[in-house]
Amino acid sequence: MSKKMLILYGTETGNSELLAMDADKLAQDNDFDTTVNGMDEVTVDDLKGHDNLIVICSTWGDGEQPDNAIDLYEATVDADDGCLGGLNFAVLALGDTAFDLFCEAGIQWDDVLEQKGGNRINDRIDCDTDYDDEAEEWLEETIGLFVDNGA
Ligand SMILES: Cc1cc2nc3c(=O)[nH]c(=O)nc-3n(C[C@H](O)[C@H](O)[C@H](O)COP(=O)(O)O)c2cc1C
Repeated sequence: MSKKMLILYGTETGNSELLAMDADKLAQDNDFDTTVNGMDEVTVDDLKGHDNLIVICSTWGDGEQPDNAIDLYEATVDADDGCLGGLNFAVLALGDTAFDLFCEAGIQWDDVLEQKGGNRINDRIDCDTDYDDEAEEWLEETIGLFVDNGA
């Protein structure tokens, strides 16, 4: 039976959503039963119901979460420590090195998922504006690591 994977994107102008679709295809090619959602379409309880999670999130403002990510991020921060025990996760952060707080929102997701008990499957990647090749490479590597982890 194929394992479930949730692919979440935090975005304002769609870059993270497009990468989430790439991740979706790669994960399906590796027999994952995938769900792709914007961060405003799920709750912390939805995160608890999954074994495998890829977060793809851009940064806006001065190091802030994109609009569709704010509520879920705050709810996750407020959730009990350890409540995401057993959740395997990896974070792809999108940003722009022209900003002081490069990829800050993705860094925050990577930190909070660990703090709530998640198990980091791959190191986060922080992508600058020309991210296509490195993001694709990271997604392939990461999905391979989810597979190695027992999927
Ligand atoms: C007004 C504005 C503010 C931004 N602020 C940041 C920032 O603080 N840190 C960062 O790393 N990138 C920042 N970015 C860059 C975006 O994160 C980057 O363009 C990203 O690819 C957008 O992805 P999205 O379309 O999924 O939202 C900013 C971009 C704009 C237009």
